[in-house]
Amino acid sequence: MRLADLTTPALLVDAGALEANLADMAAAHPGPQLRPHVKAHKTTALAARQTAHGHHGFTCATVREVEGMAAAGLGADLLLANEVLDARRLGAVVAAGARVTLAIDSPETLRAAVDGGVREVLIDVNIGLPRCGIAPEHAGALADTARAAGLSVRGVMGYEGHLQLLTDAAERARLTTECTDRLLAAHADVGGDVISGGGTGTHAHNTACTEIQAGSYALMDTAYTAAGLPFRQALTVLSTVVSTTAPAGDAPGWAVADAGLKAFGMDHGNPSVPGAAVWFCSDEHLTFAADVPPRAGDRVRVVPAHIDPTVALHERMHVVDGAGPDAEVLDTWAVDLRGW
Ligand SMILES: Cc1ncc(COP(=O)(O)O)c(C=O)c1O
Repeated sequence: MRLADLTTPALLVDAGALEANLADMAAAHPGPQLRPHVKAHKTTALAARQTAHGHHGFTCATVREVEGMAAAGLGADLLLANEVLDARRLGAVVAAGARVTLAIDSPETLRAAVDGGVREVLIDVNIGLPRCGIAPEHAGALADTARAAGLSVRGVMGYEGHLQLLTDAAERARLTTECTDRLLAAHADVGGDVISGGGTGTHAHNTACTEIQAGSYALMDTAYTAAGLPFRQALTVLSTVVSTTAPAGDAPGWAVADAGLKAFGMDHGNPSVPGAAVWFCSDEHLTFAADVPPRAGDRVRVVPAHIDPTVALHERMHVVDGAGPDAEVLDTWAVDLRGW
């Protein structure tokens, strides 16, 4: 199959850029020092590429991701880095032979782990992002309660999500250390071998964690590129120009492609079209003005601003080599970890 044969909009993965990203991150955080987060790509075939680069433990955000990873034979060491109040489906995954560790931050999530049949937990610590996580000073007591309830406490996790996109790298580094100092203080009370945290934006600054939970690095987006992260843009959305309007007098011309709000996560702003100014997205359309006006039928590769919610809107991603209409589609991967 060639690019020209694909129905648009379609997720494209540039094979060379993906492999370069995986190799670069594996060099920075080899083997168990990286626990790739699958929430960014939701694709077991891509996770398998990450195992080929030496990482066998994975981070998940949903029960469905844990189930799908285990079903794909990638369940050697799965961390659900998120709180759940019903862990019975996770218990079933454990009973089937996978290793599942669950984040807990309260007596309620502790009880859910016990009742659901999960045996291993991490204490999730609030290190600055107002989301999940127990206050550092209470982490030790929760770990004691968990152990008394028969759970194995492997250590702590904390996610400095509010720092990931800071553009000033020195400030990002300084604030990351502040956050990880809180995590280390909690770890001193909790014990265990695992200190888990970090993401694509802070991976180079987070030297306290025993493992980094980065996910976006594999495919990337314009928000992370704007923050100065060195990984390559591997994911684009192939789109077809369906309408064009020529300039008239002082009024500029524009073009409309067939990928809009239903093809892109928009919380980080509009996607980008290289060599063009994106005006706006509507449900099925992207309106843009290009330096070289396209013709109806031309195809453009649109770059998402936020990868995670973009990928979650698509059923498959096509692995491609090259850019032109004759570029070969090397493989098609199901985005098989979608849903809940
Ligand atoms: C708990 C947790 N860890 C790690 C990450 C990975 O972040 P990134 O995709 O920016 O590498 C996320 C992303 O939202 C997260 O929620």
